[in-house]
Amino acid sequence: MAEGLPVTVTITKVVKESPGVTTVFFDREFESCIGQFVMVWVEGTDEIPMALSYKNAITIQRVGDATTRLVAMKPGEKLGIRGPFGNGFRLHGKILAISGGAGTAPLLRVGLECPDVTFLMGARTADELIFHKMLTEKCDVRVATDDGSAGFHGYVAGLLDEISLDEYDTIVVCGPDPMMRSVLSVLQKRSSLEKSQFSMHRYMKCGVGVCGSCCMDPDGLCVCRDGPIFSGLSLQNSELGKYHRNAAGLKEK
Ligand SMILES: Cc1cc2nc3c(=O)[nH]c(=O)nc-3n(C[C@H](O)[C@H](O)[C@H](O)COP(=O)(O)OP(=O)(O)OC[C@H]3O[C@@H](n4cnc5c(N)ncnc54)[C@H](O)[C@@H]3O)c2cc1C
Ligand code: FES
Repeated sequence: MAEGLPVTVTITKVVKESPGVTTVFFDREFESCIGQFVMVWVEGTDEIPMALSYKNAITIQRVGDATTRLVAMKPGEKLGIRGPFGNGFRLHGKILAISGGAGTAPLLRVGLECPDVTFLMGARTADELIFHKMLTEKCDVRVATDDGSAGFHGYVAGLLDEISLDEYDTIVVCGPDPMMRSVLSVLQKRSSLEKSQFSMHRYMKCGVGVCGSCCMDPDGLCVCRDGPIFSGLSLQNSELGKYHRNAAGLKEK
């Protein structure tokens, strides 16, 4: 497929996963490594990066204009898709997946397609857990909720206390920046950073390493071109969990 040109797809199904998260399926599968992303053109609104939760679907958390339009779309409507772009996870052996909130979506295929996975899943409330039932049928799932309405009462990083990290060959992480920073700190203290990979989300415009809007401090690594998957070792001294840049390039906490 020509990477620079959007492919037009037709929406076939829309599934509400939780009050704020919706999966949109389309009529084409995109061959991709788990962890790669596509740029989704929402006509009349914007083009935004999204992980492929399935080869033919994206799972969207509503936060602003484009995501609000996306979750309101109906079967038969059309989207433009560019990509897939970026690197993917390097997955081998026994895998520990750690997600927070909508960060479960980019890791869904890890749980569904890889043979030996333990999945630690965090959300604010039981209502906000996504893909829980489906993943429970495929792998060992453990849950944490901020309000204690399901599983462990606390943040997902707290579940690591009951995990023997030495048993795992690969650790993959996706979620809000503060959650990923606290997981990174635990892995650092327990000498397991070298086998960890984090899926980073930053504001993107071009998606192909040209505009600089997704670059991270201090090294200027582009999330679109050099990521979105980064080793825990490479993120130790990064901006992760401290700030990110908005559409105007200004730092936001
Ligand atoms: C590689 C990659 C994969 C992604 N995968 C998913 C996914 O599977 N599901 C999903 O729901 N979202 C995903 N995102 C995030 C998604 O791209 C943003 O939520 C979306 O661009 C917001 O667009 P908007 O117009 O709705 O909101 P905007 O009006 O653009 O922004 C609303 C708020 O979200 C913040 N924001 C916007 N974009 C980002 C971003 N990329 N990272 C952090 N904060 C941001 C803005 O600063 C603002 O505070 C991914 C991002 C990247 C970079
Ligand atoms: S989005 Fe333009 S450099 Fe990454």
